[in-house]
Amino acid sequence: MQRSYLLAPSILSADFARLGDEVQKVSAAGADWIHFDVMDNHYVPNLTVGPLVCQAIRPYTERPIDVHLMVKPVDALIPEFAKAGADIISFHPEASEHIDRTLSLIRDCGCQAGLVFNPATPLVWLEHVLDKVDLVLLMSVNPGFGGQKFIPSTLPKLRQARALLDRYEAETGRHIWLEVDGGVKVDNIAAVAEAGADVFVAGSAVFGAANAHDPNRYDSVIAQFRAELARIDREGA
Ligand code: DX5
Ligand code: ZN
Repeated sequence: MQRSYLLAPSILSADFARLGDEVQKVSAAGADWIHFDVMDNHYVPNLTVGPLVCQAIRPYTERPIDVHLMVKPVDALIPEFAKAGADIISFHPEASEHIDRTLSLIRDCGCQAGLVFNPATPLVWLEHVLDKVDLVLLMSVNPGFGGQKFIPSTLPKLRQARALLDRYEAETGRHIWLEVDGGVKVDNIAAVAEAGADVFVAGSAVFGAANAHDPNRYDSVIAQFRAELARIDREGA
């Protein structure tokens, strides 16, 4: 089936000293969404940025800001990120006492709502809340750090999620995005797409040190990702 694919570079691997410029450049290079990783040194063993930084980058892009909350508890931060200009807000079900309530809160704040699954978290958490979900995010690494290796057991799980979301779309006519996050590179994006993903987060592959001296680095990585996606649409993974 022909899908539309979206690329969501994660600014976790960007140069934080010049974040506005990084966001502007990666948007001009063709990023579809800006993936914004929020870590609290409690739900995950790392600490990143909050709503103030989301608000600070907002003027530098017209792309949707895709906020990935790796925090516990989650609810208090949701209105803050909505005010700071987030478009999509996702959270891990383990981090919320009341998943249905948190999903509603995100939509009530005017954002799209996403549910995130760690590699070992089963998809059953989706069963009773699909109507309140706009995005399913499957982690293909354990959350907390950029630059980790893709965990292969994500591929069968992606196929399972794709089948579930296709059934839902056939019944309701509503598309739910299926996003993958962690270890996505030019050499595995085709396999990830073939398994069913339609939104691809990439941090180190886009902003990583290997590209640091290439002035057109974002254009060239994004072009390589798109070429791979076009290739599997033509000939399979
Ligand atoms: C990990 C984050 C990811 C991370 C991906 O917890 O959620 O978004 O930035 O980075 P790469 O693409 O380097 O694995
Ligand atoms: Zn993320």
